[in-house]
Amino acid sequence: MKFETECIHAGQEPDPTTGAVMTPIYQTATYVQQGVGKHRGYEYSRTGNPTRTALEACLASLENGAYGLAFSSGMAATDAVLRLLRPGDHVLSGNDIYGGTYRLFEQVLRPYGLDFTYVDTCDPEQVRDGLRENTRMVWLETPTNPVLNISDVGSIANLLRSSENRPLLAVDNTFATPYLQKPLDLGADLVVHSTTKFLGGHSDVVGGAVIGKDMALRDRLAFLQNAVGAVPGPMDCFLVLRGIKTLPVRMDRHSENAAVVADFLTGQTFIEKVIYPFHQSHPQMETARKQMSQGGGMVSFIMRDGVEAARRFAECTRIFSLAESLGGVESLIEVPAAMTHLSTASSPIAVNPGLVRLSVGLEHVDDLVEDLARALGEVGN
Ligand SMILES: Cc1ncc(COP(=O)(O)O)c(C=O)c1O
Repeated sequence: MKFETECIHAGQEPDPTTGAVMTPIYQTATYVQQGVGKHRGYEYSRTGNPTRTALEACLASLENGAYGLAFSSGMAATDAVLRLLRPGDHVLSGNDIYGGTYRLFEQVLRPYGLDFTYVDTCDPEQVRDGLRENTRMVWLETPTNPVLNISDVGSIANLLRSSENRPLLAVDNTFATPYLQKPLDLGADLVVHSTTKFLGGHSDVVGGAVIGKDMALRDRLAFLQNAVGAVPGPMDCFLVLRGIKTLPVRMDRHSENAAVVADFLTGQTFIEKVIYPFHQSHPQMETARKQMSQGGGMVSFIMRDGVEAARRFAECTRIFSLAESLGGVESLIEVPAAMTHLSTASSPIAVNPGLVRLSVGLEHVDDLVEDLARALGEVGN
């Protein structure tokens, strides 16, 4: 099946008892057993639920994985992946990552004995040089949140494959989605998603997922999913499944609108720098075009007059709502240093305080450009 068809059908057969075309929301905690231990594959909904099974199969299919596992949030998915490691293990991470991921690494997992260092993963040499004897995982976001840096997944996968300890390569594919980029095909071992974002697509659900190919890792991750219990409810799984059905058409429009917005912002008086992966000015544009099919829906830019201008601008837009999160049909604006990435403040990976991040939605692009133009005018006054 082609990707668009998989989005609508993968993991989703019509309901065998009623013929319902849409996957039912199996709103049940438990399942009757014919005899002790004799059941139809489901015992308890923390361990498994048919709506969740459909979502997990769909996600596996979209990322070309052998399995998918759904979690109650992107952070829960990230946490499960990190729990594959043991105290004393080292993780080499990109130095531009979602603030919540950094907080999990530094404030939750470091005290439990994992060690983290951060390098610019846009440069594979820095990854090679950063590996240690006890490095068990390399953690990448690409494009990154919020600076939209691009790391070459294939090159990093190759260098890890030939390294002595063969660390796992985990890629957070939230910003690109499998429609634009498939990290497992590029050589990654694990893909992580916040399904809250483009996969869900409507800002009405929080969820996460891990997808991979190696079944030994799947068994350990499924054990952790059940043992720790950060699972999504059936309604949440249904919402993500429903969102995924329109993922390709949404991502086409997100990318189209974002490219127009990036062009508009480029060269505006109050803007020092515009960042968009497929834009000529992006330092890793070639890598982006090699591994992504489109530039995606996120645009970031730095205001020339710094933090105060960034805050004023973000408070002046009307169609772009001032809010955290991204990837929904509606356009959002935020100031990462003061919002989503507050936990990186004063850290070595702190975000430029003048940076503004846009999640470009599916409204008419003329209205979006007009909104930004008007806000720029107000900042100038
Ligand atoms: C790139 C990225 N990864 C992970 C997360 C965490 O996901 P969630 O908010 O669903 O826990 C986010 C949230 O913004 C994100 O942007």
